[in-house]
Amino acid sequence: MKKILILNGPNLNLLGMRQPEVYGSTTLAEIEDQCRAHAKQLGVEVECKQSNHEGELIDWIHETRQSRTAIVLNAGAYTHTSIAIMDAIASVERPVIELHLSNIHQREEFRHTSYISKVAKGMICGLGAHGYTLAMDAALRILEEED
Ligand code: DQA
Repeated sequence: MKKILILNGPNLNLLGMRQPEVYGSTTLAEIEDQCRAHAKQLGVEVECKQSNHEGELIDWIHETRQSRTAIVLNAGAYTHTSIAIMDAIASVERPVIELHLSNIHQREEFRHTSYISKVAKGMICGLGAHGYTLAMDAALRILEEED
């Protein structure tokens, strides 16, 4: 069965409490509930995971190798620093939709660089929590095109 892996990186476990003026007041648990409800509507399997550790995110990306999984990835600040996560995505050859709650291009200069964008199929940013279900729609379309 087609599967969408929703991966959230560092500090995103604090959503709802962390800088709500930037990231909104929706918690990660609420976002994950929305993703599970949306997956039911789409008829696709979904798994939601969050880690503050780069290596753990990389291990989970590796697990998608040779599967029918697409990844929705909010890598948090690793977006702007992690060549290792970029390489992991390139290694597994699975489609990734990069996601950010905030519009990273309207923010500090250091957030304008994304290593994830270099290997992602596409990117959604600036639409808050709604971006996750939009990214799932895009991910499913890509999985369908693979068949
Ligand atoms: C973020 C943007 C990043 O620059 C930041 O480090 C985050 C969250 C977002 O969702 O807007 O942790 O990925």
